[in-house]
Amino acid sequence: MAKAIVFYYSRSGNTKEMAEIIAKAMNDAGLKTECKSVEKVKADSLPDYDAIVIGSPTYYGQMAGPIKQLIDDLVGRHGQLDGKVGGAFTSSANIGGGNETTIMGIIEGMLIAGMIIQGDAQGDHYGPVSIGKPDDRVRQQCVRRGQRIAALTKNILS
Ligand SMILES: Cc1cc2nc3c(=O)[nH]c(=O)nc-3n(C[C@H](O)[C@H](O)[C@H](O)COP(=O)(O)O)c2cc1C
Repeated sequence: MAKAIVFYYSRSGNTKEMAEIIAKAMNDAGLKTECKSVEKVKADSLPDYDAIVIGSPTYYGQMAGPIKQLIDDLVGRHGQLDGKVGGAFTSSANIGGGNETTIMGIIEGMLIAGMIIQGDAQGDHYGPVSIGKPDDRVRQQCVRRGQRIAALTKNILS
């Protein structure tokens, strides 16, 4: 049976809240999805998942250190995420605060791993972005992204 994971780093809860909304939307769309803090995720476990979604606060326009560390820890599993579905999201303090570069940094790592990333022509193009605590717009974007990742994953596996 297909399974997915959403993991995140979050100090003040904004990214965690986004992760929980995305994971719920994926589960509601029929893709069994775990939601975990990055500290509870081992790189060696990631090849077990069909879809991997990563959330990080924007730190100096980039992903936070613990997320980068886990991506770096994947080197021993290089090639084993090939063909899996990926997605990324972030929370930042400011509009134009480096949020999209943060998402793209995560996606770059996913592409190097051979993962499949779907953009969005209507929603947040690269992945959901929250300025501070998620508001209604962000919550909708997180639900939309979760639904799209679940649909793509199920299509690829069918
Ligand atoms: C070390 C550090 C660096 C940050 N760098 C940025 C930044 O470059 N741009 C920005 O808009 N916000 C920046 N922030 C603010 C966080 O991205 C923002 O508060 C975010 O919502 C925190 O997410 P969290 O609640 O999941 O921890 C920074 C915060 C910290 C602690």
